[in-house]
Amino acid sequence: MVLVTGGAGFIGSAASSKLIERGYPVVVYDNLSTGHRDAVAPAARFVEGDTGDPACLEETFRRYPIRAVMHFAAAATVDASVDACWRDNLAAPIMLLDAARSAGVERFVFSSSAAVYGRGRSPLGETAPLDPITPYGLSKAVLEIMMELRRKPSRMACFSLRYFNVCGPGERHSPETHLIPLVLETAAGKRKAVRIFGDDHDTPDGACVRDYLHVDDAAEANIAALEADADLAGSYNVGTGRGHSVKEVIGIAREVTGCEIPVEVAERRAGDPSALVADAGLIRDKLGWRARRGLMSAIRSAWEGRQKP
Ligand code: UFG
Repeated sequence: MVLVTGGAGFIGSAASSKLIERGYPVVVYDNLSTGHRDAVAPAARFVEGDTGDPACLEETFRRYPIRAVMHFAAAATVDASVDACWRDNLAAPIMLLDAARSAGVERFVFSSSAAVYGRGRSPLGETAPLDPITPYGLSKAVLEIMMELRRKPSRMACFSLRYFNVCGPGERHSPETHLIPLVLETAAGKRKAVRIFGDDHDTPDGACVRDYLHVDDAAEANIAALEADADLAGSYNVGTGRGHSVKEVIGIAREVTGCEIPVEVAERRAGDPSALVADAGLIRDKLGWRARRGLMSAIRSAWEGRQKP
């Protein structure tokens, strides 16, 4: 059985559905602070619990024969506060790791982030130095290092997946700060214009460049880590290896939606690296995973998802 923390959230719910499709029994563990009960895969068991609650964790590991954990629950925006990152992204996962080890869990797949690299030069390989510039990136980097240090004495194989910009259907935050949902809300007439954070970046069109990854590809990367040989435990980039600028994203969204999508150029956002693009060669070579879907497909399915009542 696989325990999916944050299984009511964006990537966690997509991963739960993929696991169930592949025949894995799933327990979703989520405190519903940002997740949605209706996003939990119908075939999954559901525990409403906090990853920082050792008693609830212990009871869950006692009750279900859990062999693997996929850990998605986190404060998940780069502007999350120091307190939120400390509590949700460090203290809570440390309790989860301890509970999982005590219960004899064999595999732990951790949702890390490209934010561990800070402003590193793209394309970023896993050997690029960890140099986070936000509490969010720091919390992910520290947890990765802790897992690495405890790797040898433990028989639990830990895989860290450093996602780049995951997007696609099911992405909803409150308040919304992510580019693609904001672009689609503008297309739908719910916002007046999309702000482009800086058009003087050192990139071909002056706008920030990111590596946008379809959420179903991110979910499949988790399955690859779950099924990989334990000797391959370690940290992996999860990206497409292709960068798109904010202006390109808006152009594709105009094409997909047929809507005008007004824009205005705003100041650069504090702490925003100009470009973040993955070198995704390691995960392809070691775990046999590669992104199979493109940005247009992610935007199209996100847009179609929004049209549903
Ligand atoms: N952007 C705009 N206007 C907006 C919102 C965003 O121009 O209104 C730009 C940003 O400057 C950035 C790009 O769109 O260049 C994407 O921004 P998002 O806020 O959607 O995503 P981030 O790149 O800030 O963050 C993402 C993930 C994080 C992860 C990080 C890795 O959401 O979880 O990538 O650095 F940590």
